[in-house]
Amino acid sequence: MEQLNSFFKNNSVQNILDIGTGTGNFLVNLKNIFPNAKIIGVDPNSESLKEATEKFPDVKFQKMGAENIKFSDNSFDLASISMALHHLSDVGGAMKEMQRVTKSGGWIIVSELFGDNLNSAQEVHKMYHHFGSQIDRILGINHNESFKKEEILKIVKDSGINIKFHFEFNKGMDSILNPEELEERVEKMKVRLETIIGFSEYELLKLQIEKFQINAKKFGFQSATRVVIIGIVE
Ligand SMILES: C[S@@+](CC[C@H](N)C(=O)[O-])C[C@H]1O[C@@H](n2cnc3c(N)ncnc32)[C@H](O)[C@@H]1O
Repeated sequence: MEQLNSFFKNNSVQNILDIGTGTGNFLVNLKNIFPNAKIIGVDPNSESLKEATEKFPDVKFQKMGAENIKFSDNSFDLASISMALHHLSDVGGAMKEMQRVTKSGGWIIVSELFGDNLNSAQEVHKMYHHFGSQIDRILGINHNESFKKEEILKIVKDSGINIKFHFEFNKGMDSILNPEELEERVEKMKVRLETIIGFSEYELLKLQIEKFQINAKKFGFQSATRVVIIGIVE
């Protein structure tokens, strides 16, 4: 992410906490921008953390959720959360926790996909994502639908973080799904559907798989745009 690199060019950041780190996708950006920083990644999902540990032996990982971060106040120069805001049960509480563990004058990065102003291929991606989040919710797992861009900015601003800069980022992914990739996605949806056999929503979600197939063939499939927000803790 070029904009993040240039923003932090002359800033010294030594300790970083990446929240909702998952298998470590955002760590690639952090390590690139801050090659000498000590980084800790946290996530409630043990399997993802296991994979991340194998991929990033120089990063420390701990199992925990964003709403209850087990570090002391003022521990980090920077705290980040990428693509995980819509997974949280208490977004406001998590934003407060991020600020608590970040030093005064330290940085917060929030990177999150948004669900409005999408092109047709991105709407297909949203359909795929919302299929998964709906199944999670049926199974009692917290997973909300994507926020609108302005909602994400408001969450950050209302939490008291002083927003210094924000930009939109799009991977520029190929918007065409080849037949094998489409088949793979559909298979994944079918496997997920099987986890809700016996629930009243089953038939409705089954129909969504067909709708996804039709729309993916018609419009393609492209990852939604993210908003990346950089703020300061005062
Ligand atoms: C889409 S992944 C994002 C992974 C990575 N940060 C990235 O940018 O690709 C969302 C992550 O949020 C995690 N998550 C779910 N509930 C969470 C919570 N309460 N606190 C922190 N992370 C959570 C999930 O386990 C998952 O690893």
